[in-house]
Amino acid sequence: MIQFAFQLPNKLLSSVLLTCTLSAFSVLAENQAVISVDTDNTTFTINKNIYGQFTEHLGRGIYEGIWVGEDSDIPNTRGYRNDVINALKNLPVPVVRWPGGCFADEYHWRDGIGNRASRPTRVNSNWGGVEESNQFGTHEFFEFAEMIGAETYLNVNLGTGTAKEMAQWLEYMTATNNSSLAQERRANGRHKPFKIDYLTIGNEAWGCGGNMTPEYYADLYNQYATFAKTYSGKPPVFVASGGTGDDTKWTEVLSQNKRAKMDAISFHYYTLPTNDWNKKGKAIYFPQSEWDSTMVNTLKIEKFIRDNLKVLDTHDPEGNIGFYVDEWGTWYDVEPEHNPGFLYQQNTIRDAVVAAANLNIFHQYAERVQMTNIAQMVNVLQAMILTDKEKMILTPTYHTFKMYAPFQDAQFIPLEIDTMDYESSGDDSYPAVSVSAAKAKDGYIYLSLVNLSSKNLADVKLKLTNKVFTRAEGELLTSEKMNSFNSFSQPERVKPEKVGYAIKRGRLSVALPQHSVLVVKLR
Ligand code: AHR
Repeated sequence: MIQFAFQLPNKLLSSVLLTCTLSAFSVLAENQAVISVDTDNTTFTINKNIYGQFTEHLGRGIYEGIWVGEDSDIPNTRGYRNDVINALKNLPVPVVRWPGGCFADEYHWRDGIGNRASRPTRVNSNWGGVEESNQFGTHEFFEFAEMIGAETYLNVNLGTGTAKEMAQWLEYMTATNNSSLAQERRANGRHKPFKIDYLTIGNEAWGCGGNMTPEYYADLYNQYATFAKTYSGKPPVFVASGGTGDDTKWTEVLSQNKRAKMDAISFHYYTLPTNDWNKKGKAIYFPQSEWDSTMVNTLKIEKFIRDNLKVLDTHDPEGNIGFYVDEWGTWYDVEPEHNPGFLYQQNTIRDAVVAAANLNIFHQYAERVQMTNIAQMVNVLQAMILTDKEKMILTPTYHTFKMYAPFQDAQFIPLEIDTMDYESSGDDSYPAVSVSAAKAKDGYIYLSLVNLSSKNLADVKLKLTNKVFTRAEGELLTSEKMNSFNSFSQPERVKPEKVGYAIKRGRLSVALPQHSVLVVKLR
């Protein structure tokens, strides 16, 4: 919130115009960004849950992506694929949301417990009408979260469920006495209760969750939240399912009608290159204009967050209600030859840049934005990981998340940035450089710098008020082309490389390559 961005709103430069209009700028040279950081000025904590993830019963996200079953030839531990578990553990993933998404509002928990061979097969009506085998259910989800060391975020069914069904699920998972449901859980192999850290009631109630009005949903939320009792450990953090895009009505109505426990309101926003849900744009072979529109569209999230936080500041001035962006990321046309309902898309350096720019925004608003969940973990939308039978690749987005790991639970440092803007089509523009700074738990200061341009190198000059630093060391993620990606035949085309820069008398200069993400630690 305290970050200052001195941009040049009316003096937009395309790369073509750059050379002839530069004289109009007194402070910035071509493609330049000037950043000032007072490294002693640490403020609020960047909640680690900003690095949260989302996995839904959708396409090959869970089945094949995480769960292959104990009898699979793919190396696995009790049914979970070893390669994916290890990659996720290495990130690390602080929190994971399950089972949906739209799927959550048609999920009936009893289908997913007990002997796997006897579980019913249902139709996944939201995602391709395929069979849902229910092999991955409550026990498998909590075991998965334990294996990757993540907290759990459960999305209960409001759309086609009942308050009774939800209450019984919660009792099944958390009761420690001899209630029949607790005994059933034990009989199904789990003596200890499961730990539910976060709980949300319904999903996208304005759409796939029931096409409700915010007023109607607010009443239902209060009813369900009243009966959402747990019987062991700390009560979960309760999240009301909120709005999307530029709509602040859901935040408004929910924050004004809180009559039961409501610790946060959620929000969803997806980045589409074209803004057209019927023709979203391609994941790999996209034109330059769609690089630009992707940057413009993804950065809109900052205004959406700001507008919603303004509403929360009015109705919850004490700051008790968090704002969770529990679905975000890029959404492209499904890759050719894949089931259109499976939302499988490739992931290029463009996605890595989008991820980094969004994370930098989330850091800035982390006092209220205490959780975000990128959609989705494996094989779906802006995934960390893609799999093809026994093969697995880490996407450029995975590398951004890994490089940013020191920002989890770090202390945010506000800064001043003066950066050139790039012109997109029409009146749209986007800044050349996005930046964030924080003091990490290891005691070091970290900086992230992102060059949002697909064409121009950015000449970044940093002024550090504290002159003790002599080196900046870290990793740079970039690639040959704006659409470079990792494939199953070339899994390491896009990967970070080690870099180091000298700092002299508090001055650090970085020639940031086009389409790149840099994270450095100051020594
Ligand atoms: O992430 C895919 C879908 O996007 C989710 O199921 C839904 O909540 C959103 O519309």
